[in-house]
Amino acid sequence: MAAGSVFASVPRAPPVAVFQLTADFREDRDPRKVNLGVGAYRTDEGQPWVLPVVKKVEQKIANDTSLNHEYLPILGLPEFRANASRIALGEDSCAIKENRVGGVQCLGGTGALRIGAEFLRRWYNGNNNTTTPVYISSPSWENHNSVFVNAGFKDIRAYRYWDAAKRGLDLEGLLEDMESAPEFSIFILHACAHNPTGTDPTLEQWKQIAAVMKRRFLFPFFDSAYQGFASGCLDRDAWAVRYFVSEGFELFCAQSFSKNFGLYNERVGNLSVVGKDTDNVQRVLSQMEKIVRTIWSNPPSQGARIVATTLTCPQLFAEWKDNVKTMADRVLLMRSELRARLQALGTPGTWNHITEQIGMFSFTGLNPKQVEYMIKEKHIYLMASGRINMCGLTTKNLDYVASSIHEAVTKFQ
Ligand SMILES: Cc1ncc(COP(=O)(O)O)c(C=O)c1O
Repeated sequence: MAAGSVFASVPRAPPVAVFQLTADFREDRDPRKVNLGVGAYRTDEGQPWVLPVVKKVEQKIANDTSLNHEYLPILGLPEFRANASRIALGEDSCAIKENRVGGVQCLGGTGALRIGAEFLRRWYNGNNNTTTPVYISSPSWENHNSVFVNAGFKDIRAYRYWDAAKRGLDLEGLLEDMESAPEFSIFILHACAHNPTGTDPTLEQWKQIAAVMKRRFLFPFFDSAYQGFASGCLDRDAWAVRYFVSEGFELFCAQSFSKNFGLYNERVGNLSVVGKDTDNVQRVLSQMEKIVRTIWSNPPSQGARIVATTLTCPQLFAEWKDNVKTMADRVLLMRSELRARLQALGTPGTWNHITEQIGMFSFTGLNPKQVEYMIKEKHIYLMASGRINMCGLTTKNLDYVASSIHEAVTKFQ
């Protein structure tokens, strides 16, 4: 055995930007510091929030002597999977009634994307699909690309989404990219509250998107990480997914309960599979079992129990919807307050996009120099892309953040 390390040739990987930003924020000693980078809800006191309904259900679970720590089935807790899919697809979903929906309990939304990607690479429309193009919006959540690359896909492409000049959706570009995509390409679609732009297609635009995708045999893989956060209403935020199902698409929908249940570290996610018939879905699930078995073998129970208990009890369900609305309303309030302040200050540029965008994030339009100024001089942490988490704003720091944006924009055009 040589004296050198067997790890000598391992290159150091760069840190994940959002985690690095949070680490830098923690180390910053300036009392004015503000973290607008983190992708999690914060109260008006700037604190994480354990949803009251979650606290209640946790207590209920702790007191339930019938529960134990035996392994869950490979595909997860049955009542979690069924009810998670019901939330995504709707009470009256034709696909659920026709018994052609399956769920896979996954480790967060990321796990659902990863398991879905792994399945598609192995089995989508034939087998060994490493060359099938996978289209990801430009820009997108930075992990999408890596998840699909790590699943073995070799042809990852960007589809146009954001029109920087008009600070809105580039529908024309998006539709053109769909028209020219090879048939059967896979498209990752943000179900609502697009991360990072906060800009979703309108219902009419979704219909146009679905029409092109149907005609060109494109596969929709929805990523639903913010159901309830966009509008405060679970049904409204699931509109696109449900519309695609009603149009007869086979699709995947990766659901995360990290944000809307505040269960970030419990890793609760579900991959809803909608197929043409029961037999299709059962065969897909049998392969999902093979994939899960070699990755995490079977999923953890606590988060799934919390979600399943909440979704199956009408009272708790109502309470949860109320909690989600509390979070969504606070985001909406911060949007209007920030916009009002920037407009009152006469900050150069237009700021209506702050209230027009939805969900947790806003794509401010701040350029890299302005972002650098905000971080270095103002101790306000935000992503290099100019994305801010609206929940990082509070009634106490709004004035400071608005005047800092004003300074950054005035100093660096
Ligand atoms: C668009 C998008 N998809 C998926 C996820 C992953 O969520 P989870 O933490 O449940 O893995 C996130 C989290 O930030 C996200 O923003």
